[in-house]
Amino acid sequence: MDPDIAARVSNDDLDITATAAWSDLLDHQRDLATRQMRDLFAAEPDRGREMVVDAADLHIDYSKNLADAHTLGLLAALAREARVEELRDAMLAGAHLNTSEDRAALHVALRSPADARLVVDGHDVVADVHRVLAALGDFSDAVRDGAWTGYTGKAITDVVNIGIGGSDLGPAMGYQALRYYRHPRIRGHFVSNVDPGDVIATLAELDPETTLFIVASKTFTTQETLINAKVARTWLLEQADGDETVIAKHFVAVSTNAAEVAAFGIDTDNMFGFWDWVGGRYSLDSAIGLSLMIAVGRDNFADLLDGFHRMDEHFRTAPIEANAPILLGLLGLWYSNFWDAQSHAVLPYANDLTRFPAYLQQLVMESNGKSVTRGGRKLNAASATVVWGEPGTNGQHAFYQLLHQGSWLIPADFIGFAEPLTDLTTPDGGSMHDLLMSNFFAQTEVLAFGKRERALKAEGVAPELVPHKVMPGSRPTTSILAPRLTPSVLGQLIALYEHKTFVQAMVWGINPFDQWGVELGKAVANARLAVVTDPQSPAPLPDSSTDALIRWYRAARGR
Ligand code: F6P
Repeated sequence: MDPDIAARVSNDDLDITATAAWSDLLDHQRDLATRQMRDLFAAEPDRGREMVVDAADLHIDYSKNLADAHTLGLLAALAREARVEELRDAMLAGAHLNTSEDRAALHVALRSPADARLVVDGHDVVADVHRVLAALGDFSDAVRDGAWTGYTGKAITDVVNIGIGGSDLGPAMGYQALRYYRHPRIRGHFVSNVDPGDVIATLAELDPETTLFIVASKTFTTQETLINAKVARTWLLEQADGDETVIAKHFVAVSTNAAEVAAFGIDTDNMFGFWDWVGGRYSLDSAIGLSLMIAVGRDNFADLLDGFHRMDEHFRTAPIEANAPILLGLLGLWYSNFWDAQSHAVLPYANDLTRFPAYLQQLVMESNGKSVTRGGRKLNAASATVVWGEPGTNGQHAFYQLLHQGSWLIPADFIGFAEPLTDLTTPDGGSMHDLLMSNFFAQTEVLAFGKRERALKAEGVAPELVPHKVMPGSRPTTSILAPRLTPSVLGQLIALYEHKTFVQAMVWGINPFDQWGVELGKAVANARLAVVTDPQSPAPLPDSSTDALIRWYRAARGR
């Protein structure tokens, strides 16, 4: 690796806010803020045809953003200043970009074709990946075709993934997104929360003789997952008259930690591994995706991986100006750093993508919710914004009012598909999917161009209502279209956002691959458990609020 890049990877002290590119963008924003989106379209009438990028099967229109050709040039200069392309190449080559944990971040290897070679720390990781994939494929085949049975010899009908965070959100989102591709006999369930309501509600639907539990945890030390897995094991043993031999038929583990898996009581023959260079929120395409593979089959899972890989290749090879993850990353930080946007909406016009915004919340907010650089210096700019969203058209009848006329600038990604996986005919003979997509197109149009006072008056709207009905427009959106929501397209979408998140982190100079911010809460929760449960709890807690709250809770619980 270029020694300069190696130095930047290990101790990045570039202050991006002190660069000429940053100052140019500040000046440019002041100029652009005086113009409306409709002015940009008037000045560049072909924007809708020109400000588009095709990446694998995704057709992305970014013309309805508050940016013109000059903006894009300045943003590209910013990316070059931050050496985004070199850092991308370093990540793809297995450099230890996760500096605080001294690890590579090599999720791209999880979707590398079998004939690729990626030697990291002296080891070809692609061969390892395909060995595990083959084992996952054989196991899923056995569950799907009924060769793997429960303790009474019946085929598996229900698969329960027990995991949390990256060990839950990806499989749960994918199971929903690929509803159309699921095995007809096998239902998927996802237990994550330490709230007993989660596991109780799930077990209530299940037959122990035909249920398979997948305990998914990278570390195999996560409190929520281990408790839920113990509850499930107890439930199974109760139904099986305490016969411990049934565990091997009904529990498998996915983890990097064989010792803890064995300590939990799961035979490591029933364990599928992955590696420390796979971050939790980047792990759907590792063994963590086992529940999804069982649901949709190994071939569809292979298509999902191929979709990831196609976007990886686009990210690796396309020049900055035509590179979808880089462009979307730069536009995202254009709004958060130069327009004070504090959130970003993701609005899938596909009900099957209901969990996609929640999945992206972990990907983006756990990756880039940081305020210090890799070198440990305070970051002088805002980093990740809040990501949120709901499928259209539900969102239209809930929060779009604020998108249209509220006082915040909230950039939004609209995601839609040309073909539904199943369509329905409306009573007048039309396509229900066309109704859905006409809402997609209408919303992005109205957000961009609004409705002016002049037009309202010309329509004869009562003068006192005019100010209420004015739609300001100039609300930025990016439209992401694809032919259909196939496994491959889902992989492409996820990889698009993974790399977009990476690009932003590289410009800010932060490490997107650690998550120290979630650790303290876990440690304090463990310490507080004793206070919560012990009626004789001695000294008051340091702060009067937490102390009084726990006392109130204990009293309410009769302690
Ligand atoms: O919330 C912190 C976190 O470490 C996530 O990054 C991770 O996805 C999740 O917990 C679950 O961790 P594990 O897979 O080790 O159980």
